[in-house]
Amino acid sequence: MLKAVEWKGETFQFLDQTLLPLEEVYIETSDYREVEEAIRQLKIRGAPLLGVTAAYGLCLGALEGEKGKVGDFFSFLEKVDVDLRTSRPTAVNISWALDRLKKIWEQDMEDWSPRQVVNSLIDEAKKIEEEDYKNNENIARYGAQLLQDEDRVLTHCNTGSLACSGWGTALGAISWAVLQEGKKIQVYADETRPLWQGARLTAFELMKNSIPVTVICDNMAGYLMSQGLVDKVIVGADRVTLQGDAANKIGTYSLAVLAHYHKIPFYMAFPLSSVDFSIREGREIPIEERDPEEVIAPRGIKITPPGVGVRNPAFDVTPHHLITALITEKGIVYPPFEEVLLNWKTEARQNG
Ligand code: MRU
Repeated sequence: MLKAVEWKGETFQFLDQTLLPLEEVYIETSDYREVEEAIRQLKIRGAPLLGVTAAYGLCLGALEGEKGKVGDFFSFLEKVDVDLRTSRPTAVNISWALDRLKKIWEQDMEDWSPRQVVNSLIDEAKKIEEEDYKNNENIARYGAQLLQDEDRVLTHCNTGSLACSGWGTALGAISWAVLQEGKKIQVYADETRPLWQGARLTAFELMKNSIPVTVICDNMAGYLMSQGLVDKVIVGADRVTLQGDAANKIGTYSLAVLAHYHKIPFYMAFPLSSVDFSIREGREIPIEERDPEEVIAPRGIKITPPGVGVRNPAFDVTPHHLITALITEKGIVYPPFEEVLLNWKTEARQNG
């Protein structure tokens, strides 16, 4: 299984995903600023992995702060927290992970030494990573139950080991069905413009695992569906609201509409760390707007006339009524989603 990030004691290592699949380059750093920049540039990406990365990024900041060259330890931690928190706005996993760490350093600042705080922050970051690994396995197992032998499954963006700590979410379900259950699945991967997470990353992961995959341009999905060539659509999510509206990679909403029209089941798989329990409706989700260059000059090659207008929203929101079921580490949820999500939140609170 690919390991996209790794804590190395006092440094953090990551695979630069912008170079895949042509080059596999690992970068090791002790500077949280490099981690923040890697998040902004999508060298590290995918909602659950962003949570894990933000947590380790804060640990690097704490280690730097402990050395005493950046002023007051806790004021520096505050700055690192804000820098990481604002690196990408849509995936809620970043603030979810940083909130967990903040609870520790805010509670401990009264009477703990910086060393003690650093140690407990690293412990918590490791816990977040381990939990994500276990959650991946459960999501993959539950998701695989929805996939039958000989299914033709369409997915979007990248939701596998490159986006998470373990199997992944939507892609994890596909891989589990094939590798653990021996099901024969025909996978269609949307290329996922403008940054090709499907063509570059999903295809790379599946081929590494010897799972056959066919890449299509994003605008071919409707044609395939109209020809009866897609049995199921399964994708991930970056932020899910209480009623089940879900932000995911731009193009997901179009797929959901197409799937609805063609009466094809549309599944979204994600850990509960991707649920933003503070909002109910999809329109409250902040949508990242990225550099227009990604659209007009893919891989540095200009393809449009100079001065053309450009939009580059990185995510869209699929309303809950277009989603057949949600797949989480706690199980599969069918509509209405809200009550079940709320119960799980209460349960999680009671368990500490
Ligand atoms: O911009 P990205 O590549 O970070 O977007 C990733 C996605 O949209 C994924 O589908 C989502 O984060 C789920 S990853 C398990």
